[in-house]
Amino acid sequence: MNESVNVISLMIKDHRRIETLISQLEKSLDQDYERVKDAFEQLEWKLEKHLFVEEKAIFTFYEPQDISYGYNMLPTLTKEHNHILNTLQVMKRDIHNGKTPTNIKEFKQYLFNHRDFEEQDVYPKLEDTLTDDQKQTMLQRINEIT
Ligand SMILES: [Fe+2]
Ligand SMILES: [Fe+2]
Repeated sequence: MNESVNVISLMIKDHRRIETLISQLEKSLDQDYERVKDAFEQLEWKLEKHLFVEEKAIFTFYEPQDISYGYNMLPTLTKEHNHILNTLQVMKRDIHNGKTPTNIKEFKQYLFNHRDFEEQDVYPKLEDTLTDDQKQTMLQRINEIT
């Protein structure tokens, strides 16, 4: 069994689910507050879990072949994850205060750019670098979390 295909395809599948959830949140804005709150909570849970899996179960294993590129890539990812987490916190506060979050379109675009970076650049590099043992360990950890 090719574990790398599984790890990466699992994460890509997760991206698709997150995209569905953010579209649902966008649609909920025309509806009542409970719908918005519910859609946000689903997105928040799924997205935070995804970032956690990436950082704790995947990126920690990465040992770049091209050192300077690799050591730039990881801080960029962390910075983008922090931006995503901060945006979720701002939205959460708005919703908690009974306000409709305002920056969803912008946030969606940010997530899409982040996804493209991972799917086109980061995941293929992981695929090339990781050993089968590492992939196996990752898969176990991912299954523990998700
Ligand atoms: Fe990510
Ligand atoms: Fe991701």
